[in-house]
Amino acid sequence: MRTQVAIIGAGPAGLLLGALLGKAGIGNVIVERSSAAHVLSRIRAGVLEQGTVDLLRSVGCATRLDAEGLIHEGIDLAFDDSLHRVDLKQHAGGRVVTVYGQTEVTRDLMDARSASGHSTIYEAADVTLHGIDASPYVAFRSDRVDVRLDCDFIAGCDGFHGVSRQSLPAAALRVFERVYPFGWLGLMADLPPVNDELIYARHSRGFALCSMRSPARSRYYVQVDASEHAEDWSDDQFWDELRRRLPEATAARVTTGPSIEKSVAALRSFVAEPMRFGQLFLCGDAAHIVPPTGAKGLNLAASDVHYLFDALREFYEEKSAAGLDAYSTRALARVWKAERFSWWMTSILHRFPDQGEFGERLQLSELDYLTHSEAAMSALAENYVGLPF
Ligand code: PHB
Repeated sequence: MRTQVAIIGAGPAGLLLGALLGKAGIGNVIVERSSAAHVLSRIRAGVLEQGTVDLLRSVGCATRLDAEGLIHEGIDLAFDDSLHRVDLKQHAGGRVVTVYGQTEVTRDLMDARSASGHSTIYEAADVTLHGIDASPYVAFRSDRVDVRLDCDFIAGCDGFHGVSRQSLPAAALRVFERVYPFGWLGLMADLPPVNDELIYARHSRGFALCSMRSPARSRYYVQVDASEHAEDWSDDQFWDELRRRLPEATAARVTTGPSIEKSVAALRSFVAEPMRFGQLFLCGDAAHIVPPTGAKGLNLAASDVHYLFDALREFYEEKSAAGLDAYSTRALARVWKAERFSWWMTSILHRFPDQGEFGERLQLSELDYLTHSEAAMSALAENYVGLPF
């Protein structure tokens, strides 16, 4: 087989890149090692920046998003037994975020892909990348047949555990990493959310987050030790722990009931540099991970895809490699700002094993300052709604 761009991974990054390339008439094939059903079973965050929404609109994948997405103009920070609202719209020049699950984004992109006729190979076994410094190709097995896919470029959109980053010579990469000594236990339930905006709560027992997927579906998280397993938590234990970490008046309003999913996610900050090696370009989680505080993961993948698409279009339409050469530097400048923001939000809201009483007072002082200073609220808001691409 031959195509112009071989895309590794059919998550939101790979599908969005495929949609943009397809619309521009640039040939592409997506190779995914899992099944479509498995890709859709992964529950991720649900807050989209305006830039991400605009990209989805530009490829005609926003009909359901526009109908069902929830516009959020603010968030609440909870500490000292009360809620403190940060008006995002007011502090970010009118910009807002849209609450719409990553799973739904993936489903919409998948449906558009099937309708477009571009090929996606699911359940590709033993995917390997070759010739990335000159004439690249992807080898894999599909339905027990060996396939060789020759291409001009490979886009590695296959996540943190994918083969793309691992195909680079170790000496070519510089890795920056911080692993946090805790995780998030998440619970999804078909119950009305406690609040009509997200609540990020700092409590001496640990962080909690009240989020949602729709007016009838809640998503909640509590910080837990990194060694905890979701199976060891009953729904009742979860609800009790969540309510303990919320202001009393908010806790009293939580509607509890049976969960439809519970899982623990580890928290990590990670960046691999550069994001390009030869003809291979890394996008999204393949190159970087942020802790979920601030919901930047999917949005960062979308901005990487935007930069890479721009560069590829310039290459094919204008015969210029300038955009491709600038890709890594351009993408990393935005990646590091989101790394900083996600690390900062994590650091002011979580309980750290070694923080001590001094650390606790600093967190409270930072939150007090944040919710009373126009400058600090603007800094939070402009990052939360998303820095420009
Ligand atoms: C979610 O709804 O899953 C969510 C929302 C905001 C975050 C992280 C996760 O910062």
